Amino acid sequence: MTRSQTTLRRLREMKAAGEQIVMVTAYDHPTARAADAAGVDIVLVGDSAAQVVLGYPSTVSVSVDEMLVLTGAVRRGVEVALVVADVPFGSTEVSDEQAIATALRFVREAGADAVKLEGAGPARLSRIRAIVGAGIPVVGHVGLTPQTATALGGMRAQGRTEQTAARLVDDAFAVQDAGAFALVVEAVPAEVMAVVLPEIDIPVIGIGAGAADGQVLVLHDLLGITQGRVATFVKRFAAVGEDIDAGLTAYAEEVRSGVFPGPEHVYPAGQEAVAAARAAVARRARP
Ligand code: KIV
Repeated sequence: MTRSQTTLRRLREMKAAGEQIVMVTAYDHPTARAADAAGVDIVLVGDSAAQVVLGYPSTVSVSVDEMLVLTGAVRRGVEVALVVADVPFGSTEVSDEQAIATALRFVREAGADAVKLEGAGPARLSRIRAIVGAGIPVVGHVGLTPQTATALGGMRAQGRTEQTAARLVDDAFAVQDAGAFALVVEAVPAEVMAVVLPEIDIPVIGIGAGAADGQVLVLHDLLGITQGRVATFVKRFAAVGEDIDAGLTAYAEEVRSGVFPGPEHVYPAGQEAVAAARAAVARRARP
């Protein structure tokens, strides 16, 4: 069966039909290709790239220029899925004009189909409206929003108190009303999500939020590449990190012991070439 291109319309149809939407992050060409070939519906070039592939301590450090390079690489690897780029911290906060200019760069320079913006405060809603008004589709992101985690009291689940549960509901509606075509909800109790989900018309993609219209995970977490502690909501579907460690250890051992390269890894040469090389060496030899 031929897979249909992921369009905004297709995502709405999937929600209406109760078909789960599969979203995953990618930050480079080979993993973007793999995600697309695996039938993923949305590839997100998340600003989690900051920690996952660039080694920064948090998402706030990654720049627009860095995200543009990663988004371009992902774009070139994806044919069917929708490519969504996270707009990094500091690139939309100043004004609606700044937000439009940033979003335009992701579409024009890197080929993103849409951008994702975190938060639902009055300024964020204005930015969403402005970007959508400029003709660029926007995915919203509420619940735990890592770019502003300090203001939320750290990287912790949201919607667990009366106040934050009510705020989550208001935020979800506000982002929808501002014109986002989909919404990521991160790290909220499944019971709270279950209350809000049926009321929201746009597709809702959960991460650590229980059942939703779809799910998103960070690629390196789900493949088991991430080292150390991962969030409660992460499930490892592979142990690629262990394979990488084992492969690199074996490579280093074989180089050091001379096992690699073996005869099967070298190019053959005719006798004439070898003789010519010997003659050239002899000509250079000191008397
Ligand atoms: O940056 C990211 O990877 C994200 C997902 C976790 C939703 O925003």
